[in-house]
Amino acid sequence: MMKHFTSIHDVADLAELLRQAKLVKEKPFAREQLGHHKSMCLLFFNASLRTRLSTQKAAFHLGLHTVVFDIQQGGWNLEFEDGTVMRGDKAEHVKEAAAVIGQYFDIIGIRTFAGLKNKEEDYAEQVIGQFKRYAGKPILNLESSTRHPLQSFTDLITIEEHKKTEKPKVVLTWAPHPRALPQAVANSFLEWMGATAYEVVVTHPPGYELDEAFTKGIPIVYDQQEAFENADFIYAKNWSSLKEYGKVVSEDQSWMVTAEKMKLTRQAKFMHCLPVRRNVIVEDAVLDSDQSIVIPQAANRVVAAQTVLQEMLRTNP
Ligand code: CP
Repeated sequence: MMKHFTSIHDVADLAELLRQAKLVKEKPFAREQLGHHKSMCLLFFNASLRTRLSTQKAAFHLGLHTVVFDIQQGGWNLEFEDGTVMRGDKAEHVKEAAAVIGQYFDIIGIRTFAGLKNKEEDYAEQVIGQFKRYAGKPILNLESSTRHPLQSFTDLITIEEHKKTEKPKVVLTWAPHPRALPQAVANSFLEWMGATAYEVVVTHPPGYELDEAFTKGIPIVYDQQEAFENADFIYAKNWSSLKEYGKVVSEDQSWMVTAEKMKLTRQAKFMHCLPVRRNVIVEDAVLDSDQSIVIPQAANRVVAAQTVLQEMLRTNP
């Protein structure tokens, strides 16, 4: 059962979802009638390559018609606050916008990044929450302020495919980036990894601690090289500070993932959600090596999206 897919908390049985993903990968068109006469709107408040394309491809495999709407470009500027006197630049309230979109479509996918100005607002997940409340239709999270569950499910599928031991060591490492990025991918990755039997470690410079709701029970190692020792998977990602909310408190280039550091691992596979800045987050020598699995990882975005859409269509006939 999956009414919405906004986080791992919407997954009733993770092992079963993984089993379904395997079947989807083997036979992508096995359920091409499931979405017949159904439609989905993919609503983008922010840019995307993988999510935009892979979710459409997944829908195509299910016979589900998809409309992509870049709301910031072609739509009205939305108001999310209750009781506002709407004399400013926001022409439409989410109460009407969500309700109207809900009249047109059977599933609504939403991408809405953290604003990185107000932690409480971002962590309240206002946009996803309001659409859930007013659209009256199943909501698919295409990356929200605090989570990117389609990416995390993809990451889990990819690790399952490439792991050589039952309990691989999986290291999430912070890496430098010139701009402030949300914590969503890192939060979500740890949330999903926390649901496995893997040995999970997170490494970052002091000042980049994530919300404890996501790191609970996961060791934080401040020495990146120590964390890399005997790792089976290195997952690199930048995120901005939670404590000094949305700030870049360090751009320390010594945290870039290099071929030299990869030698400390057990020939670990290198992963990143993409897009990735070459020679800032990770050296060419790693990204272009056999150890990098970023392309098969990105390919699995279709598998993850299709598996989730199947489950949503079954739950919401
Ligand atoms: N990883 C990911 O979500 O990529 P896009 O931002 O390009 O969709």
